[in-house]
Amino acid sequence: MKVVRTIAELELEPGTGLVPTMGALHAGHRALLTAARHENDRVVMSLFVNPAQFGERADLDAYPRDEARDLEIAEAEGVDLVFAPAADELYPAEFATWVEPEQAGGEGTARPGHFRGVATVCLKLFNVIRPERAYFGQKDAQQVAVIRQLVRDLNVPVEIRAIATVRDDDGLALSSRDVHLSPEERERALGLPRALQSAVGAADPVAAARASLNGLQPDYVEAVDLGDAKVLAAAVRVGSTRLIDNVLLEGEIG
Ligand code: PAJ
Repeated sequence: MKVVRTIAELELEPGTGLVPTMGALHAGHRALLTAARHENDRVVMSLFVNPAQFGERADLDAYPRDEARDLEIAEAEGVDLVFAPAADELYPAEFATWVEPEQAGGEGTARPGHFRGVATVCLKLFNVIRPERAYFGQKDAQQVAVIRQLVRDLNVPVEIRAIATVRDDDGLALSSRDVHLSPEERERALGLPRALQSAVGAADPVAAARASLNGLQPDYVEAVDLGDAKVLAAAVRVGSTRLIDNVLLEGEIG
C-alpha cells in the first residue's frame, strides 16, 4: 500500500474506487472499503480531516486522529493507495472557490457551511483522483444526497455508491465521535437509534421520535426528503458529543 501526501504524486488509473474519510476508522468505514474492494480494480482511500466542514475550531481540534492505526486498517482492507494531504495541499493560501449546495433542513440548517465544506472537498478529491466510483455511508444520508446532487449538477463523471449504516450490536450507529462518550453517555446515546426505529410506521414519525427520546436533547428531528428516499433524521447532544442518525421512511438510498 502506497501513502502519498501531494496531488503531484497521485497517478490516475481507470477502474479506481474512492473512499473519502476523515480517519479514526471503524467498521463503518471498513464496510465502504470492502464494497470498494469488490467493485474496483484499484482502491484509493483519502484520509483528510477537512477543516472547511467544521464550524467551531474546538470541534476540529477535538476530532480523533490516529494515522498509524488508520493505515494498518486500510492495508488490511486491501487499499492500494492512501491520499493523506496536509491542509494547505488542498487549501493553499490563495484558495477562493467554493461549491455551495442548496441543501436545507436537518444538517444543512443545523450546521451552516458544513455541506459547502463537504461538497468542495469531495469535488476536489474527484478531480485529483478521478475515480469511477465513490463510496459514502447511509449514516450521513444527507451527505449522500448532497454529493449525488453535486455530481448531477456539475456533470462529474463518477458513480456514487451508498452503503448501509453499520451499527454496534446494541443499535448505536458507529461514529468516529463515539470515542468521546463515557460509558454512561454511551448508554444514554442508545436512546437515539431506539427513538428513530420506534417511530418508523407511526402516523407522525417526527412527533413519535421526539416523544421517545428519553430526555435526550435534539438539535432537530426531521423527515428529510432525499429525492429517491425519505429518512427520519435526528441530531442529539450527549454531554459535549453531537451524534446523528437516520432511518429510512420511504424509498431506497441505493
Ligand atoms: P467520515 O466521518 O470519516 O466518514 C467517511 C465515510 O464513512 C462517510 O461516507 C460516512 O457516511 C461513512 N460512515 C461513517 N460511519 C458509518 C457507519 N456507521 N456506517 C456506514 N458508513 C459510515 O463523512 C466524512 O468523513 C466526510 O464528510 C468526508 C465525506 C470524508 C468529506 O470530508
